[in-house]
Amino acid sequence: MITVNLEITLGGLRMKNPVTVGSGTFAYGQEYDAYFDIAQLGAVTTKSLTLKPRAGNKTPRLVETPAGMLNAIGLQNVGIDVYLRDKLPYLREKRCTIIANIYGHSPDEYVELARRIEAEAGADAIEANLSCPNVHDARTARGCALVAQDPNRVAEYTRALREATGLPLFIKLSPNVTDIAEPCLAAQEAGADAVSLINTLLGMGINPETRRPILANIVGGLSGPAIRPVAVKLVWDAAKVLRIPIIGMGGITNAADALQFILAGATAVAVGSMSFRQPDTALSVIRGLEDYCRRHGVAQISELVGAMRV
Ligand SMILES: Cc1cc2nc3c(=O)[nH]c(=O)nc-3n(C[C@H](O)[C@H](O)[C@H](O)COP(=O)(O)O)c2cc1C
Repeated sequence: MITVNLEITLGGLRMKNPVTVGSGTFAYGQEYDAYFDIAQLGAVTTKSLTLKPRAGNKTPRLVETPAGMLNAIGLQNVGIDVYLRDKLPYLREKRCTIIANIYGHSPDEYVELARRIEAEAGADAIEANLSCPNVHDARTARGCALVAQDPNRVAEYTRALREATGLPLFIKLSPNVTDIAEPCLAAQEAGADAVSLINTLLGMGINPETRRPILANIVGGLSGPAIRPVAVKLVWDAAKVLRIPIIGMGGITNAADALQFILAGATAVAVGSMSFRQPDTALSVIRGLEDYCRRHGVAQISELVGAMRV
């Protein structure tokens, strides 16, 4: 029987397999360790960290949709200090590969977070969330664009981070743009080691009986299987123009879904919302990828990156 090598390198980060989890859908890892051994993941990606702890938005802030969910959590997190003191030791003890996702209100805040993480060995790579749709008041947010929607700002934030850290640097971008190539190229030119695609699609719902928005924040991010075709297409678009690798995500529920992203050009994949329904989904994706490679005589999973036949 063929031996399958699932190992990949993601912009300097070595991962034993290409499967991680979507930031914000896997807390700080430990919460899922009761369901499966999280050290088996290619990497654990933790919830977006900010300099100060955040309580997040008012509820309701999470609702199911026909094939996914809308969320407006608003970056609830413990903050960098508590992460480093209370959350990190568990992941280190388990020898997990860690991707720390960070969020700031300015390049300086991102830089401070990255410096803290590097100085205190708080992660093996940094993923900068430039695309959170849930931190502005939707009533007044007109003109208040996401950083990821402006290639110049993507370049500015990425450059600042690149100068601040030697850790592998991943830039998480938004699908809510006209041409995904622009922010992708801006991140690449400014020194990113990889891009993460995609964050949630902007959405909202209204209850006609009460005439009130379903989310307290009014607007939220749509995730889950509903967005998968959009995400696969954006990964494919990005792969056509990028030299740096892509972490693909959006509605992955099993290995076949993950393979769509890989064949479209993603080097790694992340399981997001599906972990809420089935906490060990990421593990079954890893096993399914190995099985696929065996059945198809693929010795190295990296051979499949961008290998869609057209
Ligand atoms: C409840 C929830 C919270 C999220 N929080 C974050 C976050 O803190 N930082 C971030 O970069 N992405 C966040 N995301 C986006 C996911 O990491 C992922 O990009 C997106 O949900 C698409 O993947 P999925 O369809 O598999 O969920 C969140 C998504 C959900 C559903």
